[in-house]
Amino acid sequence: MDLNECIRAAFEQAFPGEDFGFVRVVPATDPRFGDYQCNDALKLAKKFKMNPREVAAKVAAHVPSALKVEIAGPGFLNLTVSPAWLDESLAAFAAQPHCGIPQTGAGKTVVIDYSSPNAAKQMHIGHIRSTVIGNALDRIFRVLGYRVVADNHLGDWGTQFGILIKGYRELLTDEERANLTVANLEKCYVLSAAKAKEADGAWKDACRAELVKLQQGDPANLALWKRFIDISIGEFNRMYAKLGVRFDTYRGESYYNPMMPGVVEKLQKMGLAVESEGALVVNLEKEKLGVAIVRKSDGGYNYTTSDLACVASRVAEYHPERIIYVTDARQQLHFKQWFDIARKMGYTDVQLVHVPFGLMSYQGKAISTREGNLIKLDDLLAEAKRRAYDIVKDRGGDEALAEAIGYGAVKYSDLSHDPITDIDFSWDKALALEGNSGPYLQYAYARVCSLLDKAGADAAAEGAFHVTEPAEKRLALQLLEFPGAVRRAAEAYKPSVLADYLFQTAQLYSSFYQNSPILKSAEDVRRARLRLVALFGKVLKTGLGLLGIATPRHI
Ligand code: ARG
Repeated sequence: MDLNECIRAAFEQAFPGEDFGFVRVVPATDPRFGDYQCNDALKLAKKFKMNPREVAAKVAAHVPSALKVEIAGPGFLNLTVSPAWLDESLAAFAAQPHCGIPQTGAGKTVVIDYSSPNAAKQMHIGHIRSTVIGNALDRIFRVLGYRVVADNHLGDWGTQFGILIKGYRELLTDEERANLTVANLEKCYVLSAAKAKEADGAWKDACRAELVKLQQGDPANLALWKRFIDISIGEFNRMYAKLGVRFDTYRGESYYNPMMPGVVEKLQKMGLAVESEGALVVNLEKEKLGVAIVRKSDGGYNYTTSDLACVASRVAEYHPERIIYVTDARQQLHFKQWFDIARKMGYTDVQLVHVPFGLMSYQGKAISTREGNLIKLDDLLAEAKRRAYDIVKDRGGDEALAEAIGYGAVKYSDLSHDPITDIDFSWDKALALEGNSGPYLQYAYARVCSLLDKAGADAAAEGAFHVTEPAEKRLALQLLEFPGAVRRAAEAYKPSVLADYLFQTAQLYSSFYQNSPILKSAEDVRRARLRLVALFGKVLKTGLGLLGIATPRHI
């Protein structure tokens, strides 16, 4: 039985006809007051013009007898579960499909726009956050039953392609042109962009001319552009394969290009966009969001126009319940502006959500091109693997294990933080075997597997749960919280909620393990505890899986 549902039902019976979706049961802050508490009776007192303790008393009268309920303070409901309730709930939880995760997304679609690097450049350490956070949200929404469209909104259009095409033709060697790589493209861009700064302006003009030709559909330039994009996607996919990330679509900005004039026309017809100094703008001063340009004075469209065309296309094609955009926090104004414009254009049925994340520094230093410490993602992952290999090789670990631990460490060091915070990546913290790290949780899982292997047939036997010790009870109650933690992570768009939950669970497991003998206990106790161990293993594996972190059985 889900405790939240159970208490919500008590509210409904006490006050029929009201919506109690907001009612939440939370673990008690102090175990002396019970196992759980619900503070929502207070919120209703005003509405019903009743004393909050009276509201609480009315609700308490409908709480099933398996739960001991006490009214405390101004109207808190303190709940203590009976041993029988706990054992039965554990059995029901263990038997549920999807690890008890509610299928709240059934029949609904969510588009998640993440990673989205710019083409013709190598991915660097700055791309890790959007990729890892977006992918965790992707997995979390899928497990909640949503149909997820994971879309990589590549930066595949813009002035850089004029610079690249000119550079490709004149600055690369035949050899480089034949074996074109993203690294070559990046080099070609740097050289060509430098020449475009030359005083006579000839190179710049030539780049501009190539861009215009591309925009007008010149077959040779279009073919080159296509080749640059294909090579870029190939290289990005090599990174995604390492990270266990996959996309349903790779619709870059160019995909929406043909739709831009229509969007601008609509904005004009609706009176939302007006001419200003040759450009077309939407004034959002009233909303304190400044002014958004939707067509530049040279007739070109920009990022705002492209996102508006994109939302129209996604809504028409997928009818999503929501669209989630995972980008760095510096883009907040951009998203606020065009979300506002989109709503004014009538896109009110779709929830538009921006998940901004903070900056990442590396070993205490800001990452910047100028500092020369723009670490390539490929190098970061190689280093993670190398360091993890040093740790696991003495235990007979192989390359695959080093990848699981190294990449898991990189991902977890990001996902364990609230996305909006700035984070500092440190190898020591990421690869620590103790404390809140990926490897710590992976070790915890491997230890569970080896314990269950040692227990052999006993572990496989499906005996009853029987919780007795306090540490065991705390772990059991925490395990029942798993579906709630997944749901909360999705509601807050914070994989960190799930990471925190898993870390706390692992700590409770370790104190249970230290306090309650397992293999040496009498047979029935041993069986019951092994079931709890196995349930912890299942929750940990499922939870880490939702964060995109592998769970090797042997470390
Ligand atoms: N390419 C952009 C960048 O590198 C991110 C795109 C995010 N998605 C979007 N629909 N605007 O920052």
